[in-house]
Amino acid sequence: MNKKVTKAVFPVAGLGSRFLPATKAVPKEMLPIVDKPLMQYAVEEAVAAGIDTMIFITGRTKNSITDHFDKAYELETELEMRGKTEILKILKDTVPEGISCVFIRQSEALGLGHAVYCAHSVVGDEPFAVILPDDLIEDGNRGCMAQMVELYNEKQCSILGVEPVDPSETDKYGIVRTSDFTGKFGAIEHIVEKPKPDVAPSNLAVVGRYILNPAIFDKIKNTGRGAGGEIQLTDAIADLLNDEQVLAYQFDGKRYDCGAKLGFLIANVEYGLLHKELKDDFATYLKDLVASKA
Ligand code: G1P
Repeated sequence: MNKKVTKAVFPVAGLGSRFLPATKAVPKEMLPIVDKPLMQYAVEEAVAAGIDTMIFITGRTKNSITDHFDKAYELETELEMRGKTEILKILKDTVPEGISCVFIRQSEALGLGHAVYCAHSVVGDEPFAVILPDDLIEDGNRGCMAQMVELYNEKQCSILGVEPVDPSETDKYGIVRTSDFTGKFGAIEHIVEKPKPDVAPSNLAVVGRYILNPAIFDKIKNTGRGAGGEIQLTDAIADLLNDEQVLAYQFDGKRYDCGAKLGFLIANVEYGLLHKELKDDFATYLKDLVASKA
């Protein structure tokens, strides 16, 4: 019987040191793009892919993520009393009907592989998605994860979202080499974490979207510390390749690297230009601003 992807893991225990002081008391995943935290975009992408169980791997100082996906009784009652039905709906939609959220504390920040392993007991023996909220992807449609789930349903093997990056930037990503692409995907032959440009097997980078078969858990368990002294998911995937096919999928859509200040700023501008209430006024403002600087 074909297996279905019903669970998503969000590794969100990272320190967010690149965004200090903004992230001193606020998790980086709670920084907003226009009016929604990055974390919520990630959950919405999972929901749009048909996923119903959200597993957050959190750490110290991440309580506001738990609060955000909890029911806000007082606020809801207050808005109801004041007849603010539109805002009330937005609030209630944070966690749509039928979606459950599980929170697991990663007590030590030992790396992405370790964070994913923390979800093992909740995921069990099923395929699952991993979404890194820092990588925000806009495809003007159902979302990147929905595209990947569609491919998973057909192929039933692990899939990594990839995109070509500037060859000078390979040391920021997991990099794959694949066999020829058929359409939008290819079988991964080799994967390595953050190689320097001169030794990188290609410029095809893994972005923060994965669908993994549960065999990955045993692989992570046997993975020692890799790049940066951390237990790397990439190294466990390299081991998985010895036993199973793993596909690289070049998604439709644009990725914003919101883990970097420039990417975060660009995402805010472009999402502002897509926002149904703001887009016209914001576009006018930007045009005037550019004209005044010309
Ligand atoms: C992680 C992964 C890396 C991947 C990247 C995507 O790195 O280890 O393989 O390419 O996410 O954003 P990080 O950005 O957490 O250093």
